[in-house]
Amino acid sequence: MTDRQPFIFDTDPGQDDAVAILFALGAREQIDLLALTTVAGNVPVSYTTRNARVICDWAGRQDVPVYAGSDRPLLRPLVTAEEVHGKTGLDGVEIHDPVTPQQDGHAVDFIIDTLRAAAPASVTLCPVGPLTNIALALAKAPDIVAGIKEIVLMGGTYFEAGNITPAAEFNIYVDPHAAEIVLGAGVPITMLPLDVTHKACITGSRIDKLRSLPNRAGKLVADILTSYARFDTQKFGLEGGPLHDPCVVAYLIKPELFKGRQVNVQVETASALTLGATVVDWWGTTGLPANVNWITEIDAEGFYAQLTDSLATLP
Ligand code: BDR
Ligand code: CA
Repeated sequence: MTDRQPFIFDTDPGQDDAVAILFALGAREQIDLLALTTVAGNVPVSYTTRNARVICDWAGRQDVPVYAGSDRPLLRPLVTAEEVHGKTGLDGVEIHDPVTPQQDGHAVDFIIDTLRAAAPASVTLCPVGPLTNIALALAKAPDIVAGIKEIVLMGGTYFEAGNITPAAEFNIYVDPHAAEIVLGAGVPITMLPLDVTHKACITGSRIDKLRSLPNRAGKLVADILTSYARFDTQKFGLEGGPLHDPCVVAYLIKPELFKGRQVNVQVETASALTLGATVVDWWGTTGLPANVNWITEIDAEGFYAQLTDSLATLP
């Protein structure tokens, strides 16, 4: 197991977060998960932390460190998404009292300590919830940029409409001020927005394939996705639920499944109408320097093949 890419997964599980975490745990030959850090988003942080621990139990990975992080956005009141993910955050499956421990200390301090101890440009940060923890770490310890290889995040929308407001995607909308800090950090950033995740929808036959895996993980993911698909098919008329957060894991393992463009991206933090909108300078009209690799294309078949193969390695 050489050259495994070290990364921190910052998450608000969340049904698609849960699938992403299992995906990452199943891909341990390729990627090295240093910790799960949790944030308030889809549900409050006490739930996202509990859920992260439950998911590690499912994968038989009680050794994965789980750190609880921010319980609310930097400046705004918390907006949650129980209507999508259910009251527990993991609708569709039973939740037990987790065995995987919660680590002492705050997620933000773990991120800072880890990056300070890391070799230059060596650790990838993967936020798939509101960017509060990452922004706080950057604000508290700006020197940590030296340890960051890249930030690969799920968030934003430009060519696709918003999913929480007409203009904005959920993760960026919930904490737009944190997003502004992250986008201005001066580190390499790849964003997987709704523009691409809406091209990675789960379908009935893909769920069937996962359910037929000879392990528990396949059945859990199939149950979660069966419940998850209902909301998106009804609300957005999609063929199935978009696997937003698992796209980040697939990008880490096989970036060649994706295509994007280096562009300047800024986030709206003032307007009530378009709060959290990600404004992408697709044609370079502003002359501002590119700060993001903005992904728009995915090989969906390749993505689902990778997801299925990784889940197959779990108990
Ligand atoms: C994002 O919002 C959350 O509900 C999902 O987990 C995903 O990270 C999609 O807009
Ligand atoms: Ca998420």
